Amino acid sequence: MGELLNGLKRSCYCCDVNEEMTGKSVTVMGWVSRKRIFSHFSFILLRDRSGIVQVVVDEQSSPEAVLAQDKLLKSEYVIAVTGTVQKRTPENINPKMKTGTIEIAAEQIKILSESELPPFQVDEKAEVGTELRLKYRYLDLRRPNVAENIILRHKITMAARNFLSDEGFLEIETPMLTKSTPEGARDYLVPSRVHPGNFYALPQSPQLFKQLLMVSGFDKYFQIARCFRDEDLRADRQPEFTQIDMELSFVEEDDVMSLNERFIQRIFKEIKGIDIQLPLRRIPWIEAMNRYGSDKPDTRFEIELKDISDIVRGTEFVVFASALEAGGSVRAIVAPGCADMPRKQIDKLVEVAKTYGAKGLAYIQLKEDGVKSSISKFFSEEETDRIIEAVGANKGDLILICADKNKVVWDALGALRLDVARRLDLIKDDTYDLLWVTEFPMFEYSEEEGRFVAMHHPFTSPMDEDLDKFMQGDVENVRAKAYDMVLNGCEVGGGSIRIHREDIQEQTFKLLNFEKEDAHERFGFLLDAFKYGAPPHGGLAFGLDRLVMLLCGAESIRDVIAFPKVKDASCLLTDAPNKVDEKQLEELCIAVTETEEENV
Ligand code: AMO
Ligand code: AMP
Repeated sequence: MGELLNGLKRSCYCCDVNEEMTGKSVTVMGWVSRKRIFSHFSFILLRDRSGIVQVVVDEQSSPEAVLAQDKLLKSEYVIAVTGTVQKRTPENINPKMKTGTIEIAAEQIKILSESELPPFQVDEKAEVGTELRLKYRYLDLRRPNVAENIILRHKITMAARNFLSDEGFLEIETPMLTKSTPEGARDYLVPSRVHPGNFYALPQSPQLFKQLLMVSGFDKYFQIARCFRDEDLRADRQPEFTQIDMELSFVEEDDVMSLNERFIQRIFKEIKGIDIQLPLRRIPWIEAMNRYGSDKPDTRFEIELKDISDIVRGTEFVVFASALEAGGSVRAIVAPGCADMPRKQIDKLVEVAKTYGAKGLAYIQLKEDGVKSSISKFFSEEETDRIIEAVGANKGDLILICADKNKVVWDALGALRLDVARRLDLIKDDTYDLLWVTEFPMFEYSEEEGRFVAMHHPFTSPMDEDLDKFMQGDVENVRAKAYDMVLNGCEVGGGSIRIHREDIQEQTFKLLNFEKEDAHERFGFLLDAFKYGAPPHGGLAFGLDRLVMLLCGAESIRDVIAFPKVKDASCLLTDAPNKVDEKQLEELCIAVTETEEENV
């Protein structure tokens, strides 16, 4: 039960009430966050999306009706309060609250809606388990710290829209019910009722459509685009997420990159008040891998990978020798001051390396009383000293060495350098490390598929310098006009200059082993469009969720999405995905052959 508004109007948000309004009458509406009752008066903390204001209900100054209502109030009731703004007495001032110097002396309280006892206290400080939070996400979103992230997301989205619109971009929507797009993840499929046995795919990105829009002559397009990818979830991945997606015609890499540098500069200034110095640093992919073991390097701390292949070449230690023989490498990182790390902890580092495919991890401890090494039986003191010198380690340090194929060594040591930095608390939280990674390889070998695949996507252009090699069929040494923007070790955006020449596109498909018919079956509409005058074009997409996550210091993109999914891609609030009626399946001509229970 609750009363109707009957013409009562809210005059401001709770947190808009300030000292300048002292003596004025205001009407605020929101949820009862907390109530404290004393003998002759009570306090109500009233919450709306802006935050909390204190309402005081005084026996002397308030008519009985107010007091009666006040006594009925419980947590999360929705009320309207009309009253006079007054300064708090000095002992009641709360410097931690935005509205901590004032309060509203209630003259009228209307209960608009009642609430059952909520499953958890709707309070910033309440520790609530993830499952419960997400099952009752609408209550979780009432908590000011959670709501803040969603509000910040809106601000970033608006800043993006304004920036791009000011730069002459047009916001254009592209279809959700479409055909498979080439981003390399699994598709979410939607069955067609009208065409039994046929399926739409939800877009993994608007990639193909934005390129078509360039052929149409729109020249500068953007979209705050929802994307769907059926891939394993992590802290920075959701099955549906949002991109700030753009495409431009008549441009080269520098044009797209400098535009997006200005974009990120503007976002930082507007949202955080931070000045980002331009141009951003550019690191070629190979340098990122060699120095940081990652194509999204976190350069807020100094630990770097060192290639010691040449120093250990010729060794009898079969693990190192065979890695080098197979074309791999031996590399190391130094964990400063970690010489005395207990064995148990070192074992944990070895486990980390193994999750990246490393078969082992050797270590050298530069202890006060001498050098201790897990590979001492294979290396003389002199050889060990050469390794120590090459990696620049000092007394007190720990050297971690990995030998394998380059990819495994990079991945393992790249992860270990982050692990060590976190352990040693080397990463400052409030620093922002922005850079570009450029000159990505055009192709990478996929063990899973047993063939070369496009590292970005098959419409990415090779670099002019490598075009001859590319046309001659070299898959290993061709770099692409692709660029990723990296913020604090997270890929926040990526894009490329696209192929607009038919012979180059055909060669890409050939090198990817796409039969001509296959390519036509999948992307024929785009290839056809290119026959009618395709301008040189390129673009980029930011991961909006990731950007917001980093700007509000959240741990997971889940924290910046109003209704996120959990690890198994289900929604705890709605229980999606769920079984559907037999009748619906019949209409779609779909038979389910394996149930979830059988699948486990
Ligand atoms: P890409 O696949 O690199 O490029 O995606 C662009 C950006 O989107 C974000 N992102 C994700 N965020 C949350 N959850 C996910 N599962 C997820 N996957 C990607 C990342 C990434 O940098 N069409 C191209 C862009 C282009 O070439 O213009 C594309 O989609 O922050
Ligand atoms: P073992 O001869 O098995 O005792 O190995 C000697 C040391 O080499 C141990 O510390 C192993 O962890 C380490 N090791 C094994 N495989 C590798 C590898 N691929 N890279 C670096 N060190 C390794």
